[in-house]
Amino acid sequence: MTTLSTLNEMKRQGEKISMLTCYDATFAAVASQAGVDMLLIGDTLGMVLQGHDSTLPVTVNDMAYHTASVKRGNRGSFIVTDLPFMSYSSPEQALRSAAQVMQAGAHMVKLEGDASLCGTITELARNGVPVCAHIGLTPQFINVMGGFKVQGRSVEQAQQLVETARQLEVAGAAMVLVEGVPAPLGEAITAAVSVPVIGIGAGPATDGQVLVMHDMLGVSMTGHVPKFVRNFMDGAPDIASAFARYVEAVKQNTFPASEHCYR
Ligand code: KIV
Repeated sequence: MTTLSTLNEMKRQGEKISMLTCYDATFAAVASQAGVDMLLIGDTLGMVLQGHDSTLPVTVNDMAYHTASVKRGNRGSFIVTDLPFMSYSSPEQALRSAAQVMQAGAHMVKLEGDASLCGTITELARNGVPVCAHIGLTPQFINVMGGFKVQGRSVEQAQQLVETARQLEVAGAAMVLVEGVPAPLGEAITAAVSVPVIGIGAGPATDGQVLVMHDMLGVSMTGHVPKFVRNFMDGAPDIASAFARYVEAVKQNTFPASEHCYR
């Protein structure tokens, strides 16, 4: 059974952490048996399961439903669930939303944003809810960012993101997820905090990696494949083997390679 202590110990020991999105019981069983350390019920389910063009339509009920499904199939991985768009716009609302997904089976919730989340994170942590703070490219802010764009490209933005990670840790975040930033910035954020940092499109130096399961299995509704994705089904006899190859590539630090990184 993987716990937050296990993950902290992995960071201390320099063992890379593998994470995949997962939305149902069968894939949860296969992924956890293949050795995936963390399963993320991501609000990407709005795109890959429901067919929306963003994560914005997803509700807390959706997240709780899929979390309960993943919990039933899980064989020992650590379960993280996204709080969806506008479900944590005040600490009180965040507590209600978090209660719903934690009671459905999450071990941790993930929130997207910046240092303005600090008060909410402190309140969640005070109530027994471990929090992963998702920074960098934050898909719930697609309308503010003007699309899915790489973040932290200027020195000022990069310094700001490092500072944000520090503040979120001080506020009580037990994990940071950084998405869509140049690889050196992924490394700087990882060095700046003592909690595990998971990256997606953030280079090889983070403490762990996450991918959307559909992406790494090479299935896509739109045909668009982000730069940071490798298709682990390529040459794999079945899905369980693709998951195992992903875990191995993360642990050996052979994924992500330079072609998956932003510079
Ligand atoms: O919702 C999600 O699947 C995510 C990953 C892209 C990290 O947040």
